[in-house]
Amino acid sequence: MKCLQAIQLLLAAAAPVRAAFSWQNVKIGGGGGFIPGIIFHPSAKGVAYARTDIGGLYRLSSDDSWTPVTDSLATNENWSTWGVDAVALDPADPNKVYAAVGMYTNSWDPNNGSIIRSSDQGATWASTRLPFKVGGNMPGRGLGERLAVDPKNPDILYFGARSGNGLWKSTDGGVTFTKVSSFTNAGTYIADPADTNGYNSDIMGLAFVTFDSTSELINGATSRIFVGTADNITASVYVSEDAGASWSAVPGQPAKYFPHKCRLQPAEKALYLTYSDGAGPFDGTSGGVYRYDLTNGTWKNITPVSGGDLYYGFGGLGLDMQKPGTLVVASLNSWWPDAQIFRSTDSGATWSPIWEWAGYPEMRMYYGITTPKAPWIDAGFISQDSKRLGWAIESLEIDPVDSDHWLYATGVTIFGGHDLTKWDTVHNVSIESLADGIEEFAVLGLASVPGGSELLAAVGDDNGFTFKTSDSLGTSPQAPWMTPTWATSTDVDYAGNKPGNVVRIGNSAGSPQVAVSSDGGASWSVHSGAGTAEYAGFVAYSADADTVLWSPGNSGVLRSRNQGTFTAVASLPSGAVIASDKRNNTVFYAGSGRNFYRSTDAGSTFTAVSGALGSATSVRDVVAHPVVAGEVLVSTNEGLFRSTNFGVSFTKINGLTETQHIAFGLGSSGWNIYALGVGAAGAKLYVSADTGASWTDIQGSQGFGTISSCRLVGSSNVAGQVYVGTNGRGVFYAKGTVSGQPGMTTTTSSSTSATSSTSSIKTTLATSSTSTKTTTSRWTTSTASTVWPAPTNTAESERWGQCGGIGWTGPTKCKSPWQCKPQNDWYHQCL
Ligand SMILES: *[C@@H]1O[C@H](CO)[C@@H](O)[C@H](O)[C@H]1NC(C)=O
Ligand SMILES: *[C@@H]1O[C@H](CO)[C@@H](O)[C@H](O)[C@H]1NC(C)=O
Ligand SMILES: *[C@@H]1O[C@H](CO)[C@@H](O)[C@H](O)[C@H]1NC(C)=O
Ligand SMILES: *[C@@H]1O[C@H](CO)[C@@H](O)[C@H](O)[C@H]1NC(C)=O
Ligand SMILES: *[C@@H]1O[C@H](CO)[C@@H](O)[C@H](O)[C@H]1NC(C)=O
Ligand SMILES: *[C@@H]1O[C@H](CO)[C@@H](O)[C@H](O)[C@H]1NC(C)=O
Repeated sequence: MKCLQAIQLLLAAAAPVRAAFSWQNVKIGGGGGFIPGIIFHPSAKGVAYARTDIGGLYRLSSDDSWTPVTDSLATNENWSTWGVDAVALDPADPNKVYAAVGMYTNSWDPNNGSIIRSSDQGATWASTRLPFKVGGNMPGRGLGERLAVDPKNPDILYFGARSGNGLWKSTDGGVTFTKVSSFTNAGTYIADPADTNGYNSDIMGLAFVTFDSTSELINGATSRIFVGTADNITASVYVSEDAGASWSAVPGQPAKYFPHKCRLQPAEKALYLTYSDGAGPFDGTSGGVYRYDLTNGTWKNITPVSGGDLYYGFGGLGLDMQKPGTLVVASLNSWWPDAQIFRSTDSGATWSPIWEWAGYPEMRMYYGITTPKAPWIDAGFISQDSKRLGWAIESLEIDPVDSDHWLYATGVTIFGGHDLTKWDTVHNVSIESLADGIEEFAVLGLASVPGGSELLAAVGDDNGFTFKTSDSLGTSPQAPWMTPTWATSTDVDYAGNKPGNVVRIGNSAGSPQVAVSSDGGASWSVHSGAGTAEYAGFVAYSADADTVLWSPGNSGVLRSRNQGTFTAVASLPSGAVIASDKRNNTVFYAGSGRNFYRSTDAGSTFTAVSGALGSATSVRDVVAHPVVAGEVLVSTNEGLFRSTNFGVSFTKINGLTETQHIAFGLGSSGWNIYALGVGAAGAKLYVSADTGASWTDIQGSQGFGTISSCRLVGSSNVAGQVYVGTNGRGVFYAKGTVSGQPGMTTTTSSSTSATSSTSSIKTTLATSSTSTKTTTSRWTTSTASTVWPAPTNTAESERWGQCGGIGWTGPTKCKSPWQCKPQNDWYHQCL
């Protein structure tokens, strides 16, 4: 990755004009989301891929790290290519890789699915649209693989579709597909027929395609093919003995539970299958493991546990191709006390577990587990919960050419190791989080604090993360946001005059969902004024950190002063987007529908500013300038509007329409404006260094998925650095120089072309030629500097306010009768 980027930078430097910024991930590390499948090439050492449900496909490298290979495909229009429902490798050519992509089969995804194909391990792709949708983030996405290449004929592929679309076949290496009309059972199972949004009411369809490479050839094609269906009441495993011409249910099969995996051990001439009574990935209370003997056609129940011990189904199934008869299986979801993994060295006749009770409640664990590549997983999950091994284990693989190398995927990471055969000797294996390079985070809120934390990222499922400085962006954090620990944080904001003070919002009912920090997001405490009914939504912190304005996802807008009880702000509509002036503690801004609102009484009351936004009908975002009082930008369906007088009046900024999230960011001679919106290059990320007089596409060929679900923030500390939070591919950042003259007058009259010749971009390697022209006085008060004046500290802190600690430059006295009490080395509070 690193080398590649350096080369891209050099190439870009040779052609400075319009060179794209070079994007890379902020390293949260460790994956972060559910990984439905890991697929090893059967014979080429080290060739493997991991598919994610919302963040695309990754390729394994020899150092155990992963490289994303489908980023460029996830354009605004084709965002759903980041849902990968199946992957197939060509046994005859390790450079070839195929994937079925598409995210939802219901209305959430407008596009039909595609089969994408690469002949260079994912460096470049071609694609074929299917005449139906593919559901990479639908129920049952851990079944599989549904896509397979004939091991004896690389032109032949089969794909098992969802939604009742049945089995499809390609005879030209995945370029075209036709329906296999002789395969008539398209699956009958529907998770919830009553689900009106379509997510659970679709036919789950086909589960897997498994070729029997030991069978005879018919016209150069493998004759025996097994296909699984998501059915739990009749047959769910079908076979063709004539290369797909005709199909029948395999006799003697269990005919209960859903088959999840079906793997061939050619040396044994046997199939192994795992079953769960749930279709996955998060359910199941029973199931089984079976062996099907291909020589005599007999099924054997080899389920490792029975009776009361069988309280989960089975998902992941890995065969040791070097040692026929050796295999591992995983519970799909054993929610308590932990997942279970079993290993057999005698074809499933006997099993040994990875842990067992040593006299309840003691557990004897035949493994060590560490996460040095992603410390936050240990801090936030393993050491917090009895579930150390994970959950949602749909994929458990033994490297086909290395019996010691194994990987399994969970709801949060990929675990694995390099000493699996020690299970059979000392019965103790070393498990490590091995998902380095996978960034599968759904980013819901971003902030970059002038003179404070460089990046705060609120995320789904893993709560959120603080990156104190730009230097820390490449290092997986020691811990996620904790105490309070939530699964999901939906927003984060900072107090402009007190850069150590930040606030975040959680996403679950039943406990207070507002937390504050006075050390820049290193440690947190629950906001004492938050109730337990409201959750989610947006938050804005007043400049002096005494007022929190909260627009929850499930109620009207609320406000709290000095950690007091949140009370309703009646003058704003529910769901309004909100912002605080970053310098003036009494000023807040909001937007909803066609209206812009302002408050000059610290968010107590808001007034709609009539005519502020012209004929715009939909406010998408409101952001205040990080260091300039009174400057605010509003993003709408008609583009951007800018005010420099606390929202009293606005000027339209031309060049972009349908803007989504927008941001200020420190530039080389003032502040840049970043916007996700529709400009000359389409729906992309643009920057302007001249207050919107000209806009330049800085997204280039980097995919961010659909721009409407991205979050955006410019660095408040590093000139030219900008962050894009995606819905499933983590946070990207890039740094570059944009020339332009901030503070240039913008008018509504002329139609400004989106990429003006006065604006050019240079990469970080190119020397900036931006001259230090005199700009308007407003800008000279905030020249490009990474050093910010300390907030005025003559005052006394209010109750609950900070009054000391390492790095604190604010007031050290408290208003009477409160006293300054050290909470820790970094935080002293008025109590
Ligand atoms: C979207 O994907 C289709 C099919 O793969 C492709 O033909 C098209 O060019 C893509 N469009 C964009 C904007 O990426
Ligand atoms: C998906 O494919 C079907 C069948 O060919 C077609 O009718 C439909 O228009 C396609 N949808 C899109 C969005 O292209
Ligand atoms: C099939 O699966 C569904 C969903 O899990 C369940 O409600 C139903 O009882 C199952 N049927 C049988 C016969 O197991
Ligand atoms: C089928 O073959 C397996 C060994 O491959 C053997 O254990 C089993 O007894 C055989 N079953 C029958 C019915 O012959
Ligand atoms: C296995 O090794 C780990 C250290 O890697 C140790 O913590 C654990 O106790 C060992 N398990 C047993 C049963 O000895
Ligand atoms: C802050 O805003 C209020 C209300 O608009 C205004 O009266 C006051 O002058 C502003 N203070 C500063 C320092 O700009």
